[in-house]
Amino acid sequence: DKQYKVTVLPGDGIGPEIVEEGVKVLKQAGKQFGYRFQLDFGLVGGGAIDRVQTPLPQETLRQCRDADAVLLGAVGGPDWDQNPPELRPEKALLDLRKKLGLFANLRPVQCFPGLEESSTLKKDVVNGVDLLVVRELTGGIYFGEKYTEKTGKGEKATDTLVYQEHEVERIMRRGFELARKRRKKVTSVDKANVLESSRLWRKVAQRVARDYPDVELEHMLVDNCAMQMIRRPAEFDVIVTENMFGDILSDESAVLTGSIGMLPSASIGEGTKGLYEPVHGSAPDIAGQGVSNPVATILSVAMMFRHSFQDEEAARTIEHAVINVLAQGARTMDVAVPGDLALSTDQMGDRVVEELKKRQPDP
Ligand code: NAD
Ligand code: IPM
Ligand code: MN
Repeated sequence: DKQYKVTVLPGDGIGPEIVEEGVKVLKQAGKQFGYRFQLDFGLVGGGAIDRVQTPLPQETLRQCRDADAVLLGAVGGPDWDQNPPELRPEKALLDLRKKLGLFANLRPVQCFPGLEESSTLKKDVVNGVDLLVVRELTGGIYFGEKYTEKTGKGEKATDTLVYQEHEVERIMRRGFELARKRRKKVTSVDKANVLESSRLWRKVAQRVARDYPDVELEHMLVDNCAMQMIRRPAEFDVIVTENMFGDILSDESAVLTGSIGMLPSASIGEGTKGLYEPVHGSAPDIAGQGVSNPVATILSVAMMFRHSFQDEEAARTIEHAVINVLAQGARTMDVAVPGDLALSTDQMGDRVVEELKKRQPDP
């Protein structure tokens, strides 16, 4: 048997309910593909602040360092929104990403068959969308120097956007490598008409591209990209971009799939250790009702098999199970259209597990 340690961090809001479905799928796929998992549950975010006065307890960090992969739900919520920066749930995520060296955040966006009607965009526009946002995750404006000071003219707040050449280079290479296995096109997104860091970004993109003559490189300014993404999204293959641009563009791209409840993510570094989490947040507006969409988390589990366990077959089997149940009309409230009977979070997870069971690999 293949043995792996997975640390599970349910977090806040809808975190626990979606993670429960992700774990169901992890266990079922593990059973079918010959894995033995050691699951280790930990505290993170608001729940950790309430219990031990810190968003990322030492013990949780240790559990994550010790693990082959981490599955995280979401953190944050109105209870903690007035807290100082170090005592905000979101700080846990930033620290985890940085301390584990997870500089590459992969956010695949696909419009699955049958969900074209769930998008608020026209069917023709979202049909065939299959893109990958490669977001730089441990640099940029999220991690630059930041401070607030009092001045004679009132408060002054500063955030700095810093990139080193090697940081741009490694994320760019990752983007090109991934594009090579896809449709061989990289769109490097920046704001080079205004930002110095973007001019460096663009220069490095051009240099890295020389090592990948089989991959086409285009540059796009981020404001234009935000527009092209909803105008002709099917033309994008791999988008490589700065931390905050990637954050914003990936939420925008959720509209192409019908809901942010559909978007998974993998955060990886140089090795195979990874942090897997949905792109969405803790959704305080629907938390506790059992109506949230667990698909983003389930697809994140598929990415865990792909990137941390290097098991493409298991990853695809989970993805196909999701595609099949959606094609059969199974869907949660966020992607349901008038006439659909929406499933609850756990019903949706159960449907994926049942579908997986039908796909036992050949002995
Ligand atoms: P959000 O992603 O939590 O919610 C945005 C909208 O999408 C809401 O209407 C919500 O109901 C809906 N939604 C999100 N996930 C869904 C799902 N699985 N199924 C159905 N609908 C879903 O973003 P927000 O409201 O801006 O942020 C809420 C909190 O989450 C904030 O504290 C924020 O900091 C935090 N946050 C955390 C993460 C994370 O942990 N990775 C990511 C984003 C936001
Ligand atoms: C995300 C989230 C986080 C981010 C927040 C919660 C820190 O929005 O994972 O997309 O901005 O990276
Ligand atoms: Mn985000």
